[in-house]
Amino acid sequence: MEVLTIRGGRPLAGTVSVCGGKNAVLPMMAASLMIKGKTVLHNVPPLSDVESMSRILGCFGAKIKRENEDMEIDASALTFRSVPEEKMKMIRASNLIWGPLLDRFGRAELPYPGGCRIGLRPMDLHFKGMSLLGVAIEDRGGLIFSRGYKRKGTTICLDYPSVGATENILMAAVRADGSTVIRNAAREPEIAELCLFLNRCGASIRGIGGDALFIDGVRELRGSEYTVLPDRIVGGTLLLSALISAGDIILNNIGFDQLSNVASKLAETGAEVTIDEHSLRLKSNGRYRGVDLRTMPYPGFPTDLQPPFTAAMTKAAGVSVIKEDIFEHRLEFCSELKKLGAKISVDGRIAVVKGRTDLVGAEVEATDLRGGAALILAGLAAEGCTVVKGVSYIDRGYPAVERCLCRLGADISRSEK
Ligand code: UD1
Repeated sequence: MEVLTIRGGRPLAGTVSVCGGKNAVLPMMAASLMIKGKTVLHNVPPLSDVESMSRILGCFGAKIKRENEDMEIDASALTFRSVPEEKMKMIRASNLIWGPLLDRFGRAELPYPGGCRIGLRPMDLHFKGMSLLGVAIEDRGGLIFSRGYKRKGTTICLDYPSVGATENILMAAVRADGSTVIRNAAREPEIAELCLFLNRCGASIRGIGGDALFIDGVRELRGSEYTVLPDRIVGGTLLLSALISAGDIILNNIGFDQLSNVASKLAETGAEVTIDEHSLRLKSNGRYRGVDLRTMPYPGFPTDLQPPFTAAMTKAAGVSVIKEDIFEHRLEFCSELKKLGAKISVDGRIAVVKGRTDLVGAEVEATDLRGGAALILAGLAAEGCTVVKGVSYIDRGYPAVERCLCRLGADISRSEK
């Protein structure tokens, strides 16, 4: 078992180029199953979730070549099969192959996906959308059997702007007969990226970036190339690490379009935040205010940054009230933060954080990806040594996290325990 050992108390400073976005690349990899040819993706982050998705594509015979941050997926010749349960359970985003499989084979047989245990994560919205497109779905003892050779364009109004449901329905609709409208679609930037990528492959999607997507079914998709945008969640986590460590970090490839919602919340703390089109800087003297936070679908504050934000509030002056509105179990990492001395009380989806606490190093365990990032941030600000277990969760979304933070002046090492 690997652990990260953090010696806290060092301010993080420097300029960073943020890696490509995990939540953008995974749906594009899934979409490559729809293309009888080669998909080339650039700026692909070296993450275990990307490896898991590669293995899933490999089940169908897709050939994947990787060189540094470039990935070529050749899905010219695929064979239909059911995905082994252990592969589906590795990541939540495995469910994104549903739409592409319906497109490619007219049918799919999938176990339910896995992923971080941050809430119930049902798939009812995916089911509803697929049914409206004319897909017949049957749950046979935990396996989703679906048939949708002839999908017919229709209007789908999502009860909630789910990211995964929007992406899955979108992919199933791209080559359906006629036009599909997805209303109350999720507006996360990664959805816009998927639309742009699909349009480059020959799809016809309008309304990109808005809450209504208009998809005119096309006959053919062709292979194409796409450069994945930087990861706004990794970028936000780095800014929060500058905030909590009294540091000064510049992100040199991510700016207004992707992180203005987060930048404005960070500025409320009193930290110096400078944003322009392509860069974002946060300078902190360590004396910042606590602010309240509520997570929301985009353009609200992202749930994926709530755990590191909550960690940063332990060192803020005053009381911060954090409301997690997207995933019902996404405050569980707070019990680990308390082991470092954080004063947090959690009641359901609400955490009340009392600052400014002197955190002291201890042994803690990550049980999900972003909760793991919160523990690292707290470790950066704690006195003495913090040992973080459960590193495999963190590796799912932060490439070589210790190397990235060490380059900025942190003292973190990875070892076997
Ligand atoms: C994606 C992101 C994840 C992020 C989340 C919210 C990827 C690979 N993952 O996850 O990092 O935290 O968006 O921004 O892009 N829901 C239902 N029924 C459904 C689908 C979802 O009730 O059929 C609920 C979920 O339980 C959750 C909420 O909707 O409470 C948001 O989920 P969703 O937007 O679907 O998130 P994911 O696509 O799983």
